[in-house]
Amino acid sequence: MLEEQFISKEYNNLPEKGSFTWSSPSNIALVKYWGKKENQIPANPSISFTLNNCKTTTTVSFTKKERKDNFSFEVYLDNEKKDDFKPKIETFFKRILPHLSFLKDYHFKIETSNTFPHSSGIASSASGMSALAACLMSIEKELNSEITDEYFIKKVSFLARLGSGSACRSLEGDIVVWGKHDEIEESSDLFGVNYPFKVHQNFKNYNDTILLVDKGEKQVSSTVGHNLMHNHPFAEQRFAQAHKNLSTLINVFKTGDLKSFIEIVESEALTLHAMMMTSMPYFILMKPNTLEIINKIWAYRKETNSKVCFTLDAGANVHVLYPENETESVLEFINNELVAYCQNGHYICDRIGFGAKLITHLI
Ligand code: DP6
Repeated sequence: MLEEQFISKEYNNLPEKGSFTWSSPSNIALVKYWGKKENQIPANPSISFTLNNCKTTTTVSFTKKERKDNFSFEVYLDNEKKDDFKPKIETFFKRILPHLSFLKDYHFKIETSNTFPHSSGIASSASGMSALAACLMSIEKELNSEITDEYFIKKVSFLARLGSGSACRSLEGDIVVWGKHDEIEESSDLFGVNYPFKVHQNFKNYNDTILLVDKGEKQVSSTVGHNLMHNHPFAEQRFAQAHKNLSTLINVFKTGDLKSFIEIVESEALTLHAMMMTSMPYFILMKPNTLEIINKIWAYRKETNSKVCFTLDAGANVHVLYPENETESVLEFINNELVAYCQNGHYICDRIGFGAKLITHLI
């Protein structure tokens, strides 16, 4: 499907005012997106588990204004005005204007809240941008009765990608692919799609317990991070490896082979960090406690034959992934052995979920 499909018409039936509320979850990548081209096109395909509990709820209220050549909006997080969020949203609005022609016709009030603490070091851009994109797309759906549910969700994902790449993987679930891959016909660089093949029972209700090792501000912004892959000495091998790992995962999901799942997922996490360590400038985003946790997980697996494993984002927090039938034992292990490495003993229990939901609609 080509990008032109998402260009919006000029509408002349704009309602005076209204509001939409959506909730949208975060997601955790198994094969990582790291490196992008112009216009938020990923350098390699990625695949993620959609999360269930870590989510953003956003209300967009809109009132018609005299059209002038500027965007007009205000942003609140937990009822507090957040002017520091404005530049990112302004950039987002600029990027999506060709796709939502009415953006300059309204004043928008954007009210948002997260189920996880803002300063937890958990990326809120995936849940935040996908919830915002869904609210804005709901306005277009109101104007155009020809918009089908299938087109709606694709375009929300398309728009969310322009806000933050990984956000395009948060709309559906429980497994989403983003980026063109040879063996997944419906995959696209422009939006995320639900993983189309058979998934073994082993992956049903998979758990993700997020250990908050470092709740501080991100040391490297994602924009800076992705740019490090330009002229990176290992970039081409890395992109090829992501294609290969995704191919292998297709078989893993089919057969339920958790041993191979662990190998791919942990290798992807360490490769992501290896890319950061070998770029110029270079970064180490793990903390000593990140490594302590990884070593404890490896030791526990050796002792018990558990299928628990870890993955990492571009930070120090550890996502502990494990199958539903190990919920009790792994939680006990986390409480006994890993909590000590979390900042203030904090961790968040999550599991895979099914994407964004419309909460209210007022027109
Ligand atoms: C390490 O989606 O935050 O979490 O497109 O610049 O907003 P932008 O980047 P972002 O990058 C996330 C990278 C990652 C891996 C992943 O989620 O695939």
